[in-house]
Amino acid sequence: MSSDAAAAAAGNPLRDAQDRRLPRIAGPSGLVIFGVTGDLSRKKLMPAVYDLANRGLLPPGFSLVGFARRDWEHEDFAQVVYEAVKEHARTPFREEVWQQLAQGMRFVPGVFDDDAAFEVLKTTIHELDKERGTGGNFAFYLSVPPRFFPTVVQQLKKHGLSDAPAGSWRRAVVEKPFGHDLASAQELNEVIHGVFRASEVFRIDHYLGKETVQNILALRFANTMFEPLWNRSYVDHVQITMAEDIGIGGRAGYYDGIGSARDVIQNHLLQLLALTAMEEPSSFDAKALVLEKLKVLNAVRLPSDLGKHTVRGQYTAGWQGGRKVLGYLEEEGIDPKSKTDTFAAIKLEIDNRRWAGVPFYLRTGKRLGRRVTEIAVVFQRAPYSPFDATDTQELGQNALVIRVQPDEGVTIRFGSKVPGTSMEIRDVTMDFAYGESFTESSPEAYERLILDVLLGDANLFPRHQEVERSWEILDPVEAYWDGHGKPEPYTAGTWGPKAADEMLARDGRSWRRP
Ligand code: BG6
Repeated sequence: MSSDAAAAAAGNPLRDAQDRRLPRIAGPSGLVIFGVTGDLSRKKLMPAVYDLANRGLLPPGFSLVGFARRDWEHEDFAQVVYEAVKEHARTPFREEVWQQLAQGMRFVPGVFDDDAAFEVLKTTIHELDKERGTGGNFAFYLSVPPRFFPTVVQQLKKHGLSDAPAGSWRRAVVEKPFGHDLASAQELNEVIHGVFRASEVFRIDHYLGKETVQNILALRFANTMFEPLWNRSYVDHVQITMAEDIGIGGRAGYYDGIGSARDVIQNHLLQLLALTAMEEPSSFDAKALVLEKLKVLNAVRLPSDLGKHTVRGQYTAGWQGGRKVLGYLEEEGIDPKSKTDTFAAIKLEIDNRRWAGVPFYLRTGKRLGRRVTEIAVVFQRAPYSPFDATDTQELGQNALVIRVQPDEGVTIRFGSKVPGTSMEIRDVTMDFAYGESFTESSPEAYERLILDVLLGDANLFPRHQEVERSWEILDPVEAYWDGHGKPEPYTAGTWGPKAADEMLARDGRSWRRP
């Protein structure tokens, strides 16, 4: 054995470190998208596939198969992908990358219960294996409403598509919504696990694919200076905000009856809470991460008086970005009597030694003041202030704010002496901005997640236990809201209903105005 080989075999740390810095490139494989004509596919999935190819992270024979009820030839499908890429891709368009990718595009027309179409899909996959060397490795992406999950999954099984040929893999990628309550999520999980093994199922929560969300783990567990403060002795409360300025756009069919809490609190915001509050995992692999996330989600408790500690709202007509916008009930496709929430705020407690008594306030809404997602860890005031009360009037609480988007970074807010002859103290901020510290722009969440699926890397995908536990947390809130009146109105372009401010004011706190 050469000395190099011996060092490698012995796990030379320098070598390992270098190897880990190499880009992770997917092996021979292909992706089949069900629901390929949908918005998500056009705006996110197709551009992400191109961006991965453009970054050299896909194998040369990578193949993309679309399945939908359209009378399309392969070329028509490729044209649709081309337009989506031109409009939405993150990286520059390069003809040679496109040509290589386009050669591996196939379209299978059909409805989900059409056996003949699934046989065509099977043949298509075999042919791609021969022509493009995909090696039998295929991921099936279910970008379809959940009512179709059972049919698609059963069809994959019936036509032998879910069974990986020897030496290859088959995986299922499932988009949210993953059910609309605990019972429906359990049913879906049963259906999927009846066909795919747990390790073959990848549930997408695209927030976990965001760089800034993964950075929560880096910030907490790669550093020493935050951990000593990250607990009930120093933290007063945590606010997690996901505010959007957009309305429901063309998504009335999906959104009405679902609402903001089911749409994003059950998944994105509870995942953010889990990453913020969990204990350090023993390693950064899927099993260890799930263990810790689940442990903290299991310790989450709703306050007993949901009338006082939850608020839902619905936007009414207003102004946004200098233009008049419709109220929710006037939007196309919305039942004018709809009680669907477009805003939700919920207080949660975490019953463990680290967090007992520290409230976590979650809020989200459409048509709010501006688009911003952030996690603010707000610290307690100093137990004693030797300064004159008038000098500290403009001193707030210290805070560490993880800016998830759009202005990605981290802010620390603390008090500083105002230059001058008196001891006046005022809040200042110290900022880390991705744009300033790194030259490379962050990949889109879907780029990261699709690559992980092809690599079989499950770290950033919630497991069924987390999904079910999250519904268990939310279900009582939804049941309470169902039985109690309707959402509070708020004017589009504002920061939600007054009741949300009152909810925090009762606790002696207030929402940040990001
Ligand atoms: C989706 C929700 O999961 O996230 C949408 O269904 C929401 O309603 C979207 O608009 C927001 O994603 P992002 O990445 O723009 O914050």
